[in-house]
Amino acid sequence: MADTRRMTGRNVLVTGGTAGIGKATAVGLAALGAWVGITGRDRIRAEAAAADIRAASGNPAVEVFTADMSAQAEVRRLAGEILDACPRLDVLVNNVGGFWAHRHVTVDGLEHTFALNHLAPFLLTNLLLDRLTASAPARVVTVSSGAQANGRVDFNDLQGSARYSGQRAYSASKLANVMFTYELARRLQGTGVTATVLHPGVVATNFGTGDQAAFFTVLRPLVRPFMKSPTAGAATPIYLASSAEVEGVTGRYFVNRKPKASAKASYDTAAAARLWKVSADLAGLTADRTH
Ligand SMILES: NC(=O)c1ccc[n+]([C@@H]2O[C@H](COP(=O)([O-])OP(=O)(O)OC[C@H]3O[C@@H](n4cnc5c(N)ncnc54)[C@H](OP(=O)(O)O)[C@@H]3O)[C@@H](O)[C@H]2O)c1
Repeated sequence: MADTRRMTGRNVLVTGGTAGIGKATAVGLAALGAWVGITGRDRIRAEAAAADIRAASGNPAVEVFTADMSAQAEVRRLAGEILDACPRLDVLVNNVGGFWAHRHVTVDGLEHTFALNHLAPFLLTNLLLDRLTASAPARVVTVSSGAQANGRVDFNDLQGSARYSGQRAYSASKLANVMFTYELARRLQGTGVTATVLHPGVVATNFGTGDQAAFFTVLRPLVRPFMKSPTAGAATPIYLASSAEVEGVTGRYFVNRKPKASAKASYDTAAAARLWKVSADLAGLTADRTH
């Protein structure tokens, strides 16, 4: 159980903190006393979310950063602004992500699901790693999904150009979140920075509403009453970001605040190292810039 005010004096960044699970995570961590930075694409929406988070948590220390994280230049600008604003960074919660039924291409010419769900947290984490390491003990918490279990990272078609399905792209990106976390944990051994990854549950949020698939339009109203609230969905990210119970725990996948086995493919260390290398190339990070 996270202890009250445990996060006082700690700086936390929650990507996608303007809505859904990220916003509820920001409320929970601000309520524990943390300074919380949230990111979103639109300043007005993000400022409104920050006001809600301050009111709900009783903590005025909530700041807004804006970036469209599907664009690598925006991720780099965002990282620079965070480094300027945060002399120390104790926790990074990589929460931004989404589902697109149809194939879209980013300004960098990459398939959107892969770019936003995997490459954006990969790049942002790498750009902030020196600051996290200097702030150790520090934590990187990445929001994956139960969909990781059905994922397959196809190195011959990472961009879904040969054949695209929203479900396939989403599951692959969420498996990539797990492989990234395990590889990050291996690379960070001995630094005092931990890396964990989680499934938040099936949560009633704006998820999937940007690019409607039949599942979301037809089934959402029917299943919504059975979904978790965003507050309930935030329980595991808040736990991994703040609890003393997971101090030093790294390279693990969590569901309902408990460690759980992830997809067999996520334990393939050669594939994870290959994904890291390909991602660093696609994100324009040279080998010596990644840890
Ligand atoms: N909901 C579920 O049932 C569920 C289940 C398993 C896993 N997850 C995972 O949980 C995470 C959060 O999902 P959610 O359900 O809370 O989604 P959500 O309600 O749609 O919230 C998504 C957040 O990401 C931000 N965002 C979206 N596109 C962005 C972009 N291009 N650049 C920067 N920020 C962007 C949004 O901010 P703005 O719109 O203000 O820019 C918002 O704050 C995702 O990684 C998702 O895969 C969700």
